[in-house]
Amino acid sequence: MKTAKRDFLRLIDLEAGEILTVLDHAKAMKNQRASGARRHPLEGRSVALIFEKPSTRTRVSFEVGVYELGGHPVVLSSRDMQLGRGESIEDTARTLSGYVHAIVIRTFGHDRVEALARAARVPVINALTDEHHPCQILADLLTVRESHGRIEGLRYAWVGDGNNVARSWVEAAARLGFELTLASPEGYELPPSELPSNARTVRDPREAVEGADVVITDVWASMGQEDEAERRRKAFAGYLVDPALMAHASRNAVVLHCLPAHRGEEINAVYLDGPASVVWSEAENRLHTQKALLEHLMR
Ligand code: CP
Ligand code: NVA
Repeated sequence: MKTAKRDFLRLIDLEAGEILTVLDHAKAMKNQRASGARRHPLEGRSVALIFEKPSTRTRVSFEVGVYELGGHPVVLSSRDMQLGRGESIEDTARTLSGYVHAIVIRTFGHDRVEALARAARVPVINALTDEHHPCQILADLLTVRESHGRIEGLRYAWVGDGNNVARSWVEAAARLGFELTLASPEGYELPPSELPSNARTVRDPREAVEGADVVITDVWASMGQEDEAERRRKAFAGYLVDPALMAHASRNAVVLHCLPAHRGEEINAVYLDGPASVVWSEAENRLHTQKALLEHLMR
């Protein structure tokens, strides 16, 4: 019997046990890679990587990841495709499904990824939409495991915009049950109806960070919001993650940022450039977690 294809459009598309399995496998592959060992589970298979927005980490980690798994990555900018001239996302999905064995896409509205997944006959992975960034959270969770030895039983604080990365963190809290407090200015919070009982929004970043083990932030204006940057800078004043704010966190707390970052705006440079920074491991972990994800979905 043919089993249904698996997509990863939002974090909750994986069960809790699957998230932990992917993280275990990612860590094992990270260690194997360091020792020079190679496995090629995607040999003979190709993966299309479509970008409708800029990307450094996601693009390179997926391209290198597919290569390291023995597969062939086909990196596509929508500008160079008929998609950029108005061919529908559904017709693109049907066509690509005849050539490749999975499709990874970064785009604007989440409905575009959903439409692509419905029309595609191969697994589809969301590499960021305006609403979700699930691949980022897999890397973040691995980074937390490396810094604290566990994910469960820790307190998590989100400081800043109720954006795509925040929403995927909320879904991680829903799946894994940890306590998540978000601090966002009025008008920039996630809708309360989206929050599970173990997540809540407050206004004061100090209240969110109080006793937190993991503090997460992101830019105040995401891709596509460039016109709002000035208004957002005013609204988010006071939401800087700096040593004064981190004085409220637990002693061994780590600061996560998906990057790219604006030093001195949403994050103090010490959490990027200081000796205790975990942000560069977080960026590297995109490679390992996405390799594990690709294997999980393409088995
Ligand atoms: N964090 C992240 O997704 O980075 P890129 O935009 O560079 O892919
Ligand atoms: N929230 C940011 C994340 C970038 C990786 C954006 O969407 O631009």
